Amino acid sequence: MSFAWNTYCRARLPEHTAEPEYGGYVEDLLAMPELQGLAAIPHHIPTTLLTHVCCVSYAAYCLCKRYGGDPKIAARGGLLHDLYYYDWHDFSDKSHRWHGVLHPGRALKNARALLGEVDKRTADCIHRHMFPFTPFPPIYRESIAVSLADKICSNYDVLIARLPSVRRRFERDTGLTFNAEEGTQACT
Ligand SMILES: [Fe+2]
Ligand SMILES: [Fe+2]
Repeated sequence: MSFAWNTYCRARLPEHTAEPEYGGYVEDLLAMPELQGLAAIPHHIPTTLLTHVCCVSYAAYCLCKRYGGDPKIAARGGLLHDLYYYDWHDFSDKSHRWHGVLHPGRALKNARALLGEVDKRTADCIHRHMFPFTPFPPIYRESIAVSLADKICSNYDVLIARLPSVRRRFERDTGLTFNAEEGTQACT
């Protein structure tokens, strides 16, 4: 089993938040209603936005533990990297049309509103996670980890939804059942 797949599967299971080190890094953020409210926002089928940011947070934490960087900053930056409060699939709202380009800036603005000042590494995790879709690359180990974790989690989400063979492997390796509700349980 590859490191990316293994990390993704562990990240999708709610048990990862009970790991003392990781849980200690993120428990204050996860308790905030603004974060828990992401459970009501769809993201990739069948994950909610809360499931996605939890998955990216844990995967970025694991990447930093393995390859270097501050795992706490990566864990917190991963949780905050998509902190926006709307369903980007709803194109009846014209402000969503440039979501791919604009949401990192919106998420950073929301993180600052939530936490006050955000340190430069965490800000880089949030603001540059969409590279190469956006032009400026992440420059710190932690923000590179968040950007990589975002690609890992997003691509596996889509593969699980579209390819029965990957879905069966996910169900076998996690014990989860593929359905529209499972993502809501990841970080509660
Ligand atoms: Fe994003
Ligand atoms: Fe993301």
